[in-house]
Amino acid sequence: MRVVIAGGHGKIALITSRLLSARGDSVAGLIRNPAHEDDLRVTGAEPVVLDLEDTTNGVVSSHLRGADAVIFAAGAGPGSGAARKETVDRDAAVLLADAAEAAGVQRYLMISAMGADANTPDDAADDVFVAYLRAKGAADDLIRSRTELYATIVRPGQLTDDPGTGKVAIAEHTGRGKIPRADVAAVLVAVLDAPQTAGQTFELISGDTDIEVAVASLAVG
Ligand SMILES: NC(=O)c1ccc[n+]([C@@H]2O[C@H](COP(=O)([O-])OP(=O)(O)OC[C@H]3O[C@@H](n4cnc5c(N)ncnc54)[C@H](OP(=O)(O)O)[C@@H]3O)[C@@H](O)[C@H]2O)c1
Repeated sequence: MRVVIAGGHGKIALITSRLLSARGDSVAGLIRNPAHEDDLRVTGAEPVVLDLEDTTNGVVSSHLRGADAVIFAAGAGPGSGAARKETVDRDAAVLLADAAEAAGVQRYLMISAMGADANTPDDAADDVFVAYLRAKGAADDLIRSRTELYATIVRPGQLTDDPGTGKVAIAEHTGRGKIPRADVAAVLVAVLDAPQTAGQTFELISGDTDIEVAVASLAVG
């Protein structure tokens, strides 16, 4: 299959590219920094330089034509303020949905976040985190509302760079927890292989269940 990953230089994105390329899938990564091109090539992915905050539906959709799925793996990142939560975590994710529809790509995997909620209440102690949860929640709501898309919303707990364990807990609400980015990437690959997960939103942390089993049970649940 051909998969286009928005935010292709992100940590989860690079691991996912490596997994998909290794099994023979074709991967393209949308990145904004040309200096990152070789990092993508090392994973087997084709780099496409494109700033998701400074582009158009027409440009993005031109790079999605012929793809079987898109993955939104971008994020404004921990050093950013509230404004970029809106322009990346919300608006770029919605742009990818618009472009996917325009290009005729129906499968959309969203890396959201545990606690994402467009109606997150104010918290003066951490207004940037509130903006982040609202932006992620709003994007999830908008993507789910697209009847043309077969979307799966994956909401990990706190990400770590620990080695993957291959064991996770997946549920509508898992409770708080951590998960290695490597395991999130493996779950994304398993979800791509389970089209029955379209329309589902789930939280994801480390657990005791093999990834394949956890995703399969989600698909029939
Ligand atoms: N940190 C956590 O504990 C946590 C928990 C749950 C969910 N998440 C979410 O999980 C997702 C993936 O996390 P991660 O750690 O793999 O992400 P990451 O390493 O921070 O990567 C995010 C990528 O998005 C790219 N990006 C930002 N703005 C862009 C733009 N305008 N155009 C194109 N690309 C752009 C960045 O590119 P540059 O390198 O050029 O900046 C970066 O490569 C994120 O959405 C994050 O919010 C995080």
